[in-house]
Amino acid sequence: MINETVGIIGGTGWLGGAIAKAVLAKGLVPTGNLIISNRSGSHPLAQQGACLVTDNQDLVDRSDVVIIAVRPEHFASLNINAAGKTVISLMAGMTAQTIAAQTQASAVVRAMPNAAVEIGESFTPWYCFAQTAATTKSLVQRLFECVGTAAEVQQEDYIDYLSALSGTGPAFPALLMTALANQAMAAGIPPDIAQLAAKNVVVNSSQLLASHDAQQMIDALVAYRGVTAAALQTMIQGHFEEQIGRALQSGAAVARKGLQA
Ligand SMILES: NC(=O)c1ccc[n+]([C@@H]2O[C@H](COP(=O)([O-])OP(=O)(O)OC[C@H]3O[C@@H](n4cnc5c(N)ncnc54)[C@H](OP(=O)(O)O)[C@@H]3O)[C@@H](O)[C@H]2O)c1
Repeated sequence: MINETVGIIGGTGWLGGAIAKAVLAKGLVPTGNLIISNRSGSHPLAQQGACLVTDNQDLVDRSDVVIIAVRPEHFASLNINAAGKTVISLMAGMTAQTIAAQTQASAVVRAMPNAAVEIGESFTPWYCFAQTAATTKSLVQRLFECVGTAAEVQQEDYIDYLSALSGTGPAFPALLMTALANQAMAAGIPPDIAQLAAKNVVVNSSQLLASHDAQQMIDALVAYRGVTAAALQTMIQGHFEEQIGRALQSGAAVARKGLQA
């Protein structure tokens, strides 16, 4: 447990709400030390131990650490003064410099969780703008460990690149699963079987990777020279990895350009 008061602006959204729920479920802060805000002033989290407000400055004044979990296009309208506070931004494509200038925060952290916060399986890289106290860093790490794993990165640009990688959460697997199912159906496999097979590959069989090295597994399967080897080699010869590289660079370019309206 930490003694600080944590405020989450946009604490009823997809990411903010999942973090709020996890902070309460894991008992990271004492009862009464979690404040969340949104514009409507209503949400079930208000009945589950969080204090819900609509005045963002009130939230900032009562918090030691302020998480900004609104969409980037809503940031400009927040109009908060967080002097003396630590601000942790989850916003994609919003630079630490811009956040520091607009909030007057003493410390600014950019963090990039993903949608798996909902099931406590996010990976959250985070970056500290300028010198940050070790106690603040420890708090940030513990906060994001409530929703999965987390690690500090040393360059802000890594956050923009990782926005297109881990920040996308289930997006790449969803694309793979859809492609596998669609191609199986196009080849004549009944739709329900095609979907079960594709889901098993992406969601279930992939669990083996938690305890096996991915490259070793590929090497072993290719060396076997069987059905899997033929399928994998077609992917490799079709420049699968280069295509992934281009996808990540396109997403990172959008994050680097900035998403503010
Ligand atoms: N979703 C992801 O997978 C993901 C991944 C990485 C990073 N992010 C970043 O996380 C942030 C939040 O994304 P999200 O998907 O969680 O968005 P979301 O579900 O739309 O949540 C945004 C929340 O902000 C609240 N809000 C909007 N304007 C507000 C204001 N002026 N004051 C207080 N609250 C306000 C909204 O509630 P009301 O409408 O009731 O005000 C809503 O609860 C974004 O900046 C995004 O770039 C998202």
